[in-house]
Amino acid sequence: MKTILITGGAGFIGSHVVRLFVNNYPDYKIVNLDKLTYAGNLENLKDIEDKPNYEFVKGDIVDGKFIQDLFSKYNFDGVIHLAAESHVDRSISNPMEFIYTNIVGTVNLLNAVNFIWKKDYKGKKFYHISTDEVYGSLGKEGIFTEDTPYNPHSPYSASKASSDHLVRAYHDTFGLPIVISNCSNNYGSFQFPEKLIPLFINNIKNNKPLPVYGEGINIRDWLFVEDHAKAIDLIFHKGETGETYNIGGNNEWKNIDLIRKLCEIMDDKLGREKGTSAKLITFVKDRAGHDLRYAIDSSKLQNELGWKPSLDFEEGLEKTVDWYLENEEWLNNVTFGDYQKYYNEQYVKR
Ligand code: NAD
Ligand code: TYD
Repeated sequence: MKTILITGGAGFIGSHVVRLFVNNYPDYKIVNLDKLTYAGNLENLKDIEDKPNYEFVKGDIVDGKFIQDLFSKYNFDGVIHLAAESHVDRSISNPMEFIYTNIVGTVNLLNAVNFIWKKDYKGKKFYHISTDEVYGSLGKEGIFTEDTPYNPHSPYSASKASSDHLVRAYHDTFGLPIVISNCSNNYGSFQFPEKLIPLFINNIKNNKPLPVYGEGINIRDWLFVEDHAKAIDLIFHKGETGETYNIGGNNEWKNIDLIRKLCEIMDDKLGREKGTSAKLITFVKDRAGHDLRYAIDSSKLQNELGWKPSLDFEEGLEKTVDWYLENEEWLNNVTFGDYQKYYNEQYVKR
């Protein structure tokens, strides 16, 4: 029986990855290590928490001694590392958490696997989950490939870029068997409502303004989260050691177009007159250093490992809206307490 560590498994993408691995691989023991920050929520894993091949450990990847002890105890065969501070706006107001978790935390994990595995790397894999934001911002033309030079702009993307470099450095220096993937913007169930899509669904539902940064002309490439989880499964099992794979939806949307589409879907689902939700659109001060466009070329993953996105965007968006409307209790629970403080500081006070 293999023992696999998944970090950040109580977060948005992590919970989908944990669910997929626990359900698809009954012969693996899946250990989910998560600090349970504001973004981590064990409610996300209610449906699998009693499975015999699943275990949750609460802990902080920034605590090096704790990480070493954890590795000595479990002797993991593989690591899928998702734990991170992940929201660009929070990285602008509070960069240090990003430096600790995303950089120091990643190095703590690298040191622990390196120490435990160095006698025999055979059959082992350290899989680092990263973002397309490390490549920087595109103009109207162009697309990120695995060879695009890194050019991050936000403290978030710079901390992820730094962790990617460190993961590669441990491969090149110590021979650590690593693999990295860089994915575009994800959407779907269990995403914390600070990111564009769930934030706007929640605001439309509650008739609150929809704060569109700048002119809403920024472009993102959206991928359904379960397709990302499937790509992670494939890359973990079939990806070539030392390689990087880009993951993306080939699905570019200008923010304002996406927001108008979301408003249409919400009007329909809430039985509101057409055009009602779009009246909530409010243009606000732009995000500092706001990257204009992300677009990702995932042909390496598609051609070499046979992955492709399964869902059409409008279908995925509708499915996502349905999920948030059906899971009102989840949404109410995560938008309580500290969330209100964050919301006021980010959107009301300035
Ligand atoms: P998230 O913010 O929803 O979840 C992050 C999880 O990490 C939370 O459960 C949190 O409690 C945990 N965590 C944070 N700090 C920790 C620490 N010090 N120790 C242990 N656990 C800690 O993030 P997400 O959107 O699910 O992103 C997961 C990963 O995927 C991140 O590495 C992110 O950079 C990457 N990624 C995200 C996207 C996206 O669109 N969301 C796209 C590409 C890549
Ligand atoms: P976000 O979901 O934060 O993801 P990222 O910054 O990692 O791409 O934002 C997606 C896009 O939506 C981005 O261009 C910023 C924009 N945005 C808004 O216009 N208003 C908001 O309140 C938020 C959170 C994002």
